[in-house]
Amino acid sequence: MLPRPLIIDCDPGVDDAIAILLALVSPSEFDLLGITTVAGNVPLALTQANARRICQLAQRPDVAVYAGCPRPLLRSLTTAEDIHGATGLQGADLPEPTLPLQSQHAVAFLIERFTTTSTPITLATLGPLTNLAVALIQCPAIAQGIDQVVMMGGALGSGNITPAAEFNIYVDPHAAKVVIDAGLPLTMIGLDVTHQVVTTPARLAALEALDTPVGKAAAGMLRYYGQLDVERHGLTAPPLHDPCVIAYLLRPDLFTGRPMRLAVETEGSLCIGRTVASVYPTAALPANATVIKTANAEGIYALLTERLGKHIAGHKTPPARLIR
Ligand code: RIB
Ligand code: CA
Repeated sequence: MLPRPLIIDCDPGVDDAIAILLALVSPSEFDLLGITTVAGNVPLALTQANARRICQLAQRPDVAVYAGCPRPLLRSLTTAEDIHGATGLQGADLPEPTLPLQSQHAVAFLIERFTTTSTPITLATLGPLTNLAVALIQCPAIAQGIDQVVMMGGALGSGNITPAAEFNIYVDPHAAKVVIDAGLPLTMIGLDVTHQVVTTPARLAALEALDTPVGKAAAGMLRYYGQLDVERHGLTAPPLHDPCVIAYLLRPDLFTGRPMRLAVETEGSLCIGRTVASVYPTAALPANATVIKTANAEGIYALLTERLGKHIAGHKTPPARLIR
């Protein structure tokens, strides 16, 4: 099997960083065409620098990092330093990035890649959907180059940033509506799933036992990450959100879901950013997303630990890329 062409859009952010690492240490499965960054967990200046730090940590200077939108479409930016720390990568002491930031805007990169590829590209979104929404508004034809969008976002049950809304959707609900209404092959991995995937002491210990730089950095970040979520949601341990997206692409058998009709609230104060899914699509309102419902947490952590435990034999040359 040729590696899957993949673009990651993210707001690193600790769990984004773990997700990016999982993709970077899986070069047989992913041809990572680029990482686009957006304001979210922390401002864009930090999310783009953190993405470069993570690529350096994984000895993957071949991966291009792009800066995208510094704020949501309409709302002012909401960040989450309380969860991720002031740097966005609390628990990891990574050096200043020397990997260059691409001069091309992330939205322009998305449009260029999705409109010129002859092989449909998978897009993993791990943050607010502002970059993808702007690309869709500017160039709806990008849909032809998208194989599927797998999104960490939304919640059918309780939210996290508010009782009703999950952070990525809450930050930019208008962007989420643009993406959901675009009719893309969309898979939603929301809090209902990621709250099943928690970093128990045993799972953290397995990561801390790794003797690879990426394993040690991941364990360091996870040691602090998500304690607030535990207190706020009464979870048994901190949830692991974004890595579920990459784990799904690597091992979809670890998840179950079903087609639903998905919508997002873009108005009001109490419920803005709420995702609503109808389990019985109708002719008038057909299914527009696969909503994931269950995850095999043990299998996901085994996959994460196995991959992060592999020593990286230096910088890998990019895999043989398909002629585009
Ligand atoms: O609600 C969790 C999501 O919001 C994760 O993607 C986290 O990184 C933040 O972006
Ligand atoms: Ca994120």
